[in-house]
Amino acid sequence: MLNLAIFVSGRGSNLISIFNAIKRKEINASVKAVVSNKINCPAIKFALKNQIKVFFVSEKEKKEFINFEQLKNQFLSDKIDLIVLAGFMKKIPAEFVEQFDNKIINIHPALLPSFGGEGMFGMNVHKAVFNKSCKVSGATVHFVNNKYDEGMIIFQKAVDISGLSSPEEIAKKVLRIEHKILPFVLKKFAEHKLREVNNRIIIE
Ligand code: GRF
Repeated sequence: MLNLAIFVSGRGSNLISIFNAIKRKEINASVKAVVSNKINCPAIKFALKNQIKVFFVSEKEKKEFINFEQLKNQFLSDKIDLIVLAGFMKKIPAEFVEQFDNKIINIHPALLPSFGGEGMFGMNVHKAVFNKSCKVSGATVHFVNNKYDEGMIIFQKAVDISGLSSPEEIAKKVLRIEHKILPFVLKKFAEHKLREVNNRIIIE
């Protein structure tokens, strides 16, 4: 059983897609914790409604928030196997990333290495894709390292956006793909079907 911690900051549709795939027994995993930098976001409401343990994290001292050092200790005692950034809008401190080397993954709503990096999140990504007149976009699941969106790519799927006429339409089409590929990757993690060979991630 794969013990997951899922980081969120907003709507939580990826969290819900993972939760539902686990419920349907498609992934042998358990969501042990949901972590957020936002107290009142819909994703947190979903977690609380479903009796998932919730933590608020901040690098600053704030009431109701823990820091990344405390979060690390919590994860070690909860035996978290994998941390999933599913719409988490804050940079994770380097020490925390180093502690969980190769155990943090992120979903990015474009085909990396294009349209990634600082400031490239949410609708900014889809607007940039639209303004470049791209004909395909997609979603990428990748490992997290200390540079924005530069960790090794695990899985990607492209979508045809040639017929779409706004960034919002692109976002909608890409999100449908996100809801498929993130649970797919987690299923493969749970089945130990991911390997690194010659600097590439191979999925069996
Ligand atoms: C997704 O598009 C994800 O790729 C990006 O932020 C969005 C989060 O959506 N990193 P949700 O909160 O999972 O609905």
